[in-house]
Amino acid sequence: MNQRILLLGSGGRESALAWKMSQSEKLEKLFIAPGNGGTGQYGENVALSPMDFPAIKDFVKANGITMVVAGNEDPLVAGIYDYFADDAELSSVPVIGPSKAAAQLEGSKDFAKGFMVRHGIPTARYMSVDASCYDEGVKFLRSLEAPYVLKADGLAAGKGVLILPTLAEAEAKLKEMLGGMFGKSSATVVIEEFLSGIECSVFVLTDGNSYKVLPVAKDYKRIGEGDTGLNTGGMGAVSPVSFADDEFMRKVTGRIILPTLDGLKKEGLVYKGFIFLGLINVKGEPMVIEYNVRMGDPETEVVMLRTDGDLVDLLEGVATGTLAERSLAIDPRYAVTVMMVSQGYPGSYEKGKRISGIDDVKESILFHAGTKRSSEGLVTAGGRVIAASSYGNTKKEALEKSFAAISKVDFDGKYFRRDIGFDLE
Ligand code: AMP
Ligand code: GLY
Repeated sequence: MNQRILLLGSGGRESALAWKMSQSEKLEKLFIAPGNGGTGQYGENVALSPMDFPAIKDFVKANGITMVVAGNEDPLVAGIYDYFADDAELSSVPVIGPSKAAAQLEGSKDFAKGFMVRHGIPTARYMSVDASCYDEGVKFLRSLEAPYVLKADGLAAGKGVLILPTLAEAEAKLKEMLGGMFGKSSATVVIEEFLSGIECSVFVLTDGNSYKVLPVAKDYKRIGEGDTGLNTGGMGAVSPVSFADDEFMRKVTGRIILPTLDGLKKEGLVYKGFIFLGLINVKGEPMVIEYNVRMGDPETEVVMLRTDGDLVDLLEGVATGTLAERSLAIDPRYAVTVMMVSQGYPGSYEKGKRISGIDDVKESILFHAGTKRSSEGLVTAGGRVIAASSYGNTKKEALEKSFAAISKVDFDGKYFRRDIGFDLE
């Protein structure tokens, strides 16, 4: 079938998904809503908000859209899957992603922890508290060792997790969170045991029955080199991840992927899309830090490079429950992505800086994130600006290509990390 796809989102992740989809013979037409200054090379940008479901409905009907792919979590947690499934005029158009109930795996940390416990999936010990049981929360905190992990239950734009070095700070922050530090999102707080280890991101594509595992990636969240400073949306990523070897992945499959898919089925949670397992390797044993109900950003910028297969065909398999019949291979090369960000990010930063040099880049794929086309040409429009993504026979070779690309691209205040992948050998 020739697909007319509407992709929702505007980041580097959506650029990478659009790049991959645009290579498919099954793609008739791709629209990206709202897209960014780079996505126009893969399809047509449309000025629609991913959260404006009635406007999306009108667009889908008027443009013969055959599939909707949600890049970010907000529309999924808000129930775009059910909005389509329950509407007689839209129900024939599949949405790639979980139902609203299943999207709670990301939308509510309390739900996700309960789900893991119900299905025996390894994760940190925890207790969920609201303002009525602050004292029990404090008692639980006192039973743990430093540092202390507090998580706002609901979505908090990636900022809802606090890791506190002392008990006194943890107790104070628990009170602040329950008092509305993250609005309604922290009316419930998950208190967790701290796990020590190295993290990686595993992506599973499922049609609700069968599944495929995409290339494993690791992202680098801190702004500073050596993983220091504030958390960002992600400063770079690499794939493969050396410690995620066959033995580790067998454990991930047996202890996490299969029980997750089985648990979704048993609980009647409809899920046809990407599952993002945020894992931590605790002395060789994988444990789940979090679920997300979408692909990662910037992990997608390396995962798509190493996905050797037709993404549109795979998504068609998800939509029609025939994923098992579709093929996916993994490119053996290394892939890295290095994010160029605006000066000041993740704090306040200026936008509208002119970007030069992108046409000179041949060694890397530039996935635009916070860019837009203006009367002055291409300008910055966000904290994360462009991800320079490269292949290499070694990680070093791939990194050298990304750095060479970055040296050609310029905008006022450009910053990037030079140590992406530094902790893996
Ligand atoms: P999350 O939003 O749940 O991914 O949490 C953000 C980050 O906090 C994770 O990527 C981890 O680096 C860290 N984190 C979350 N939970 C834990 C935990 N139980 N132990 C150690 N680190 C954690
Ligand atoms: N890179 C982590 C995320 O997308 O949530």
